[in-house]
Amino acid sequence: MADLEGLKVSKDYHVNVPFANQKGFFLKGINSLDWGMKKHMANIFNPESGNTVMFAFDHGYFMGSTAGLERLDLLLPQLAPYVDCFMGTRGALRTCVPPEIVKSVALRVTSGSSMIQDDLSHEIVAVDIEDAIRMNADCMAVQTFIGADGQLSSLENLNRVINAGMRYSIPTMGVCAVGKDMARTDRFFKLATRIIAEMGVQVVKTYDCENFEEVVAACPVPIVVAGGKKLSEPDALKLAYGVIQKGARGVDMGRNIFQSPHPVAMAQAVSMIVHKGATDKEALEFYQDEIHKEAQPNR
Ligand code: R5P
Repeated sequence: MADLEGLKVSKDYHVNVPFANQKGFFLKGINSLDWGMKKHMANIFNPESGNTVMFAFDHGYFMGSTAGLERLDLLLPQLAPYVDCFMGTRGALRTCVPPEIVKSVALRVTSGSSMIQDDLSHEIVAVDIEDAIRMNADCMAVQTFIGADGQLSSLENLNRVINAGMRYSIPTMGVCAVGKDMARTDRFFKLATRIIAEMGVQVVKTYDCENFEEVVAACPVPIVVAGGKKLSEPDALKLAYGVIQKGARGVDMGRNIFQSPHPVAMAQAVSMIVHKGATDKEALEFYQDEIHKEAQPNR
């Protein structure tokens, strides 16, 4: 029985102490896995910076045609040079990404909800492992609802995908979903990210929160951070800078890139923060210079 009464609050995160079992590979939690897993992880995460810019455009799987993603066939080739990984559905990837574009792929494999429903927490595993292999997926993304009505089926989905991924050395990315009744507190994210990691995923995608560095410290695999709702460009860059400073190994950003009036410049600015150690202010200056150049192409 879970001992809810008198539960001791976790506090010893040792946020400044590096992960201890990392010898031999540049990403935490991956050291003991085989060559194939490591190769996929090194496709997603740049071995020099240790970080990744994933571009998330999987919104259509439950939102339909989304502002900024109306024409994936036009947008994706423009962004490809500036991001490390495309995160999308098999339908979007197969139809809109020319196979000549060399980019790692985070393949969304669960679906089953749509935004006109009240409860989005019930999904199925829609893509089987054979199709993930055919698509050369570098990881399989599974929406995971902790504390929501669909928690059990969601964890069943997650474990099915992890088990299949372990058979063929394809990493799984657990996408920490925030159910409609859940508060975005560090308490929730510490619970959810750790449960997802202990199921056996190789990457966790989650959100920024208070004490985010403790969420990172307590999660034994790399964390990437979703951008969430569209913010102003300065705020989105501040978010990216903040989470990288606190130990995230990258971002998996969607709306804050594709809903920017200048998505290519925004992707480049985010990449400066993630890979080059730029501050949000430096990245914003770059972004502003780029849009100035766009406005005056002949100067
Ligand atoms: C959410 O379920 C999807 O995985 C999105 O791809 C994710 O939320 C990242 O996109 P955004 O930065 O727009 O939140």
